[in-house]
Amino acid sequence: MKLRYFSHSAFQFTADNGKTILIDPFLDGNPNSPVKSDDVKADYIILTHAHGDHIGDAFKIGKRCNSTFICVNELANYCASKGFNAHNMHIGGGFNFDFGRVKFTIAHHGSMTPDNQYAGEPAGVIISSGGKNIYHTGDTALFYDMKLIGEMTPIDYMLLPIGDNFTMGISDALKAVELVNPKIAIPIHYNTFPVIKADPNEFKSKLEANGKKCLVMNFGEEIQL
Ligand code: NI
Ligand code: MN
Repeated sequence: MKLRYFSHSAFQFTADNGKTILIDPFLDGNPNSPVKSDDVKADYIILTHAHGDHIGDAFKIGKRCNSTFICVNELANYCASKGFNAHNMHIGGGFNFDFGRVKFTIAHHGSMTPDNQYAGEPAGVIISSGGKNIYHTGDTALFYDMKLIGEMTPIDYMLLPIGDNFTMGISDALKAVELVNPKIAIPIHYNTFPVIKADPNEFKSKLEANGKKCLVMNFGEEIQL
């Protein structure tokens, strides 16, 4: 499985069977993304919640690629109302897709579409594919049940926000990594806007001082998991 980071919360997974999965594809309006929406493809699009910096270009990409949306029920219904294929799920539930398993987790945040429609609860997501478990926390505050998430699914890669203001900042993110205990933490949701300015290398050095591994991905970089 390959993982590509576009910046902010946007990633592309390429499963071993060639299926491509985008998460929170905020590209065209994202000053840090080296890639625009016309440059990516997606068999599936997973949205953690409905805020504009997460829905991003999902509908534009979804229309061109005939993608299937995977989201919590209310947001999936919203996508379906716009004419898209949607697979409705909800927090705590998992489903085995052709590329791997998707399970939604709680996240403490909000969720409303850019046109002010109710979109259900915000979520985090665990993707299990190619023998690896990847936990994308979505936008969230620190919460103690992260410990339970890590106990129920041993996490290889934890993708978590450090930008503060809307989500965890660095000090809360350090605690989140301690609770989940992933093999590798990858910081996200920072430096896109002035209010979420944060230094990922400060996060990395503090994590390493705690004996944890951290990978700061370059914007546009792809790694083999
Ligand atoms: Ni948000
Ligand atoms: Mn956000």
